[in-house]
Amino acid sequence: MRLDKFLSLSGERSRSEAGKLIRSGAVRVDGQVVLRPETQVSETAQVTLGGQVIGDSSSQYYMLHKPAGVLTAARDSRAATVMDLVPENLRKRKVLPVGRLDKDTTGLLLMTNDGALAHFLLSPNRHVWKQYRATVTGQLTAADVQAFAGGLQLSDFEAKPAKLTVLTSAPDQSTALVEVREGKFHQVKRMFAATGHEVIALHRAAFGPLTLPEDLPVGQCRPLTPDEVESLRQSVQTRREDGE
Ligand code: URA
Repeated sequence: MRLDKFLSLSGERSRSEAGKLIRSGAVRVDGQVVLRPETQVSETAQVTLGGQVIGDSSSQYYMLHKPAGVLTAARDSRAATVMDLVPENLRKRKVLPVGRLDKDTTGLLLMTNDGALAHFLLSPNRHVWKQYRATVTGQLTAADVQAFAGGLQLSDFEAKPAKLTVLTSAPDQSTALVEVREGKFHQVKRMFAATGHEVIALHRAAFGPLTLPEDLPVGQCRPLTPDEVESLRQSVQTRREDGE
């Protein structure tokens, strides 16, 4: 990622303000002053502004057990959003959802004001796996498992290979675990639709290394532990194919 983008995602400043700060000599990457806003920084780089590490103490990391019927949006004039479920002080500190779950999808939603980490977690080339539990119409078979494993051609893109584990299979309804590493709009629902199944219920059980704890009630959020934050950082370091 470009240094000016990193700085603007990590604080409340525009890209051009970030550029000015960089050119003024106030920003160091791994201890060295860097003057070019277009310099690429990796997710492991330590970036400081006036001696303060960026994206550290001010960053907040939460997981929310999203209920059905709530929009994943910063705000909506009519419908309830996930922001209504987080404490006021987090809203003030610009904690936002990482990616989105559909209104009727339940489960683990990560929320943070660390824009740089969120960006890396959402990058399709980082291979951060998300695991969903799905209830679908019709009988899931080995042919569906193979179709998911081979990648599915959807109307506007080819979904990357995904792992489908059938849990229960009956003629009218089946349940399965699905692991995908992309996060396109309605991705899981569209993958099932491509194999002739309609999703009746969808629940995200895991996001990268994080699993939704059984004791986190629906509609509640809790801060991530330092180990959980570290595991998220590790998860985006494994592969980089997008030249950031
Ligand atoms: N895939 C979907 O279709 N919906 C979600 O909410 C998440 C993944």
